[in-house]
Parts: sequence; C-alpha cells; structure tokens
Amino acid sequence: MRLSRVPLIEIKTPGQIALMREAGLVVARMLRATAAAAEPGISTAELDAIAESEMRAAGARSSFKGYHGYPATICTSLNEQIVHGIPSRSVTLAAGDVLSIDAGAIVGGWHGDAAITVAVGAVPAEVTSLLQACERAMWQGLTAAVAGAHLTDVSHAIGSSAVTGGYGVVREYTGHFIGSQMHMEPAVPSFGKPGRGPVLAPGMALAIEPMLVLPQPGSSGNWVPRTRLLDDGWTVVTADGSLAAHFEHTVAITADGPWVLTAEDGGAGGLGLTGIRGADARGPAATAAGRR
Ligand code: MF3
Ligand code: CO
Repeated sequence: MRLSRVPLIEIKTPGQIALMREAGLVVARMLRATAAAAEPGISTAELDAIAESEMRAAGARSSFKGYHGYPATICTSLNEQIVHGIPSRSVTLAAGDVLSIDAGAIVGGWHGDAAITVAVGAVPAEVTSLLQACERAMWQGLTAAVAGAHLTDVSHAIGSSAVTGGYGVVREYTGHFIGSQMHMEPAVPSFGKPGRGPVLAPGMALAIEPMLVLPQPGSSGNWVPRTRLLDDGWTVVTADGSLAAHFEHTVAITADGPWVLTAEDGGAGGLGLTGIRGADARGPAATAAGRR
C-alpha cells in the first residue's frame, strides 16, 4: 500500500476504547490459557478449543472465525510457519517446537488482536534470543506509538531494533489499524524510514506485529526473508524453512501515551523496559491522575 494515499483513520471515543480494552483483556486471557497449555503432546486444535472456551466464558466473539472463511478461533504457527497457521487435530506439539499463538476477540463490536511466540520444552539459546528479539522489537514499536509521531516512526522503531540483532524482518505481512474491524488501513510495516505516513492522534488504535526470522549462517544484516503460502491458502512459511517468531499487541494512542489494550498491565511493564512511562492497568487517565 502507498502510504502517500492518506486513508481516513477511525478515531474512537473513550467509550469505544474502553470496549477495545475489554476485548484486549479477553485476548490476553486467551493467550495466557493457550500458552500455559502449550506442552508436548497437545494438539493445536485442543489449544483452539481452550481459546474458544475462554472467549465464550467472557461473552466475547471471535475476530478470526469466519474472517474471509478462516476456520478457527486462533492461529497456531509452528517453527518455519510465520503466521496464519490453522489449528489441527493432527498437529501435536513436541519439545523443541516454537509456536506462535495469535488471538482476536470482539466485545460490543470492537476488536482486540494480539500474538505471542512460545518455546515448547527446551530450545537452543539462539531460539530463545530470537523470541526475545521479536518481543523487544514489538515493545520498541509500542513505545513509539505516541500522539504527534508519524506512522513510520513506529515502523522504524520496530525494524531498527530487529536489524540490530541481525534478524530478518518479514515485509509481506504487516501490522494494521484496528477498531470496528480487525484489519483497517493503513498497514503498519515493521521496517522502513521514519517520518512518513499519517500523524498519530488520540483515539487511534493499531496492531503492531513484527515477524522475525532467524538468519541462516552467512546471511547479511539487511537480509530480507522470503515467504511462501501453503496450499491451505492461509499458512505463511519462510521460503527457506528458517525459524520464525511473531509477537503482536493492540495499542491505543492516548494523550497520556500508549495504552497497550491487549496487555493485562496496560503495557506498563513492557513500556517501562524501553524507558518511558505508559498507562497502567487502570487506563491512561487514571495513571495520569495518579502522577499528579
Ligand atoms: N492477527 C492476525 C493478523 O493480523 C489475524 C489473523 S487473520 C485470520 O494478521 F484470518 F486468521 F483470522
Ligand atoms: Co493483527
């Protein structure tokens, strides 16, 4: 998409952001429950069932099921799979696997969307580093999601963090704005030059989702990983079979800084790691009041 064609970005009211926060907390619970169950022997279809029952217990609806015909409540992307893996009864986790779990939920018509990548059992140190680098790149992007910044300031923050570690950044799949629909324009790339695209303003919400690939021996720092779509029409894999990681959070732009709607603590912990004070679990207005 050309960022120069400025799309109309949905501005949410505080009440609508509050519904997105509720959806975000449902997504957080879906991810917490499925990550805890991601042990050797469980199938990805069983993880999907766990996520669905968490979602239903909260009275929420799925953002994913039925989206362009997508058949499940979560995406489960294993090892060289980058995103949009479909849960299956015939895919069973084994020690050493790396699993991306992506979940979305709707509360009162408003969406939340987040993903984590977890190691199943013990994995080599370079794999742990990949997961940490992907999560760190996401938090760098979230930290840059402030009113007055340009959209690609977020992209640049994500991409420069990832490239510093020598990881490949997937370009064909991006983050997105979010609100009354899961995927809204414009796209939020995880790479690129800063200072371009629309200016972020309070009431906007975006899903920041870097996908990082472990470099092959000998690959250079600005290596761009290639992707391939499997015959199921959904699952995206690295073309060369390299291991991939994926983290995602939905963040609201507020006058008091980024509010990470899909983080149980509102992002306070992760944003703190990168050096700024964000909104806490009570929400940005309450946080700001507490600081006075
Ligand atoms: N979080 C995913 C994304 O933004 C959403 C999965 S799309 C679905 O790409 F179709 F699989 F639901
Ligand atoms: Co998303």
